[in-house]
Amino acid sequence: MKAVGSYKALAVNEDEAFLDLEIDKPEASGRNLLVEVKAISVNPVDTKVRKRPHPDETMRVLGWDAAGVVTAVGDDVNGFVVGDEVYYAGCITKPGSNSEYQLVDERIAAKKPTSLGFAESAALPLTTITAWEAIFERLGVSKDGNDAGKTILMIGGAGGVGSIAIQLAKKLANLNVIATASRPESADWCRARGADDVINHYEDISEQLDALGHPQVDYVLCLTNIAGYWKTITDVIKPQGKICTIVDFFEDSNLDLLKLKSASFAFEFMFTRSMHQTDDMDEINALLSETAAMIDSGELITTVAEVVSPINADNMRKVHATIEEGRAIGKYVLEGWS
Ligand SMILES: NC(=O)c1ccc[n+]([C@@H]2O[C@H](COP(=O)([O-])OP(=O)(O)OC[C@H]3O[C@@H](n4cnc5c(N)ncnc54)[C@H](OP(=O)(O)O)[C@@H]3O)[C@@H](O)[C@H]2O)c1
Repeated sequence: MKAVGSYKALAVNEDEAFLDLEIDKPEASGRNLLVEVKAISVNPVDTKVRKRPHPDETMRVLGWDAAGVVTAVGDDVNGFVVGDEVYYAGCITKPGSNSEYQLVDERIAAKKPTSLGFAESAALPLTTITAWEAIFERLGVSKDGNDAGKTILMIGGAGGVGSIAIQLAKKLANLNVIATASRPESADWCRARGADDVINHYEDISEQLDALGHPQVDYVLCLTNIAGYWKTITDVIKPQGKICTIVDFFEDSNLDLLKLKSASFAFEFMFTRSMHQTDDMDEINALLSETAAMIDSGELITTVAEVVSPINADNMRKVHATIEEGRAIGKYVLEGWS
């Protein structure tokens, strides 16, 4: 089968960073589905893993977002049949989705939205799992409206995760969403996805929140550079407020700044359930299924910015380069094999 892979950790412009390869097709067993991959999307995690050394120069296939068709199922699969159209992010410890066929555990996959094609579906899983777990599980926001009217500050609103996080916070929880974006086009993108207000993360955040009449917020979801915003976040969080980030600090941070406010802090890592095979792994199937239903009912809208075709080394390189710039708006998808 075709795949885009590499044998070495290389910069995006190095010839061998992306190779068009022929590799063996895997076989389904246990709870795995064998999926014919129709579209994939690229996330910052792909660019980070690409730069990690390969033990013994083993071949590595990246990609943790896909949509496709189930072509075989393992003996223990009970939720899917051959022919089902699915979407999933997969597991960071397993081969990625940049190949014509991929195995995925049924507990972390779901039937894709029927109203979307493969490309738009492939844009959603990784970022949706991240945003959903961050908002409803780590921050503990009620998705039944019990926290309606409370305010969330989302730092980095126009990226892949922000594009769906804004929608989930607005449409399910009815929070007052204040997103950050630094350019007119990224600010417009946030508003189009439901942000009530957009402020600029390169200007004084406290002053801008004051001007909006929300000097302090109930929740902060930081989707970028947490260390750079930590002092501001601890200033603007309300007493007993909640903070979540999806990124590493990369340097010491002072959690003591939260003590006098009894504010709480949580990390979100969307591969935790799959890499640790937690007992509640099938929550990912549940949240992706619920998201698909909300897409089909029109409550949530696409997060796709651009679709590139076909899935090959040249196009993968271009999309990695775009993501690495850190200024993506929405999601970048590759579709179809040449
Ligand atoms: N823990 C997890 O499970 C998990 C899951 C997904 C992603 N992540 C990580 O979370 C981060 C965001 O992911 P993503 O997919 O949303 O990324 P992305 O799509 O590449 O995000 C791009 C956006 O980031 C904004 N941005 C860039 N620098 C910023 C800064 N200094 N302050 C505020 N915003 C800034 C830009 O907004 P403007 O152009 O408007 O400035 C741009 O729209 C990445 O580091 C990724 O690896 C973690």
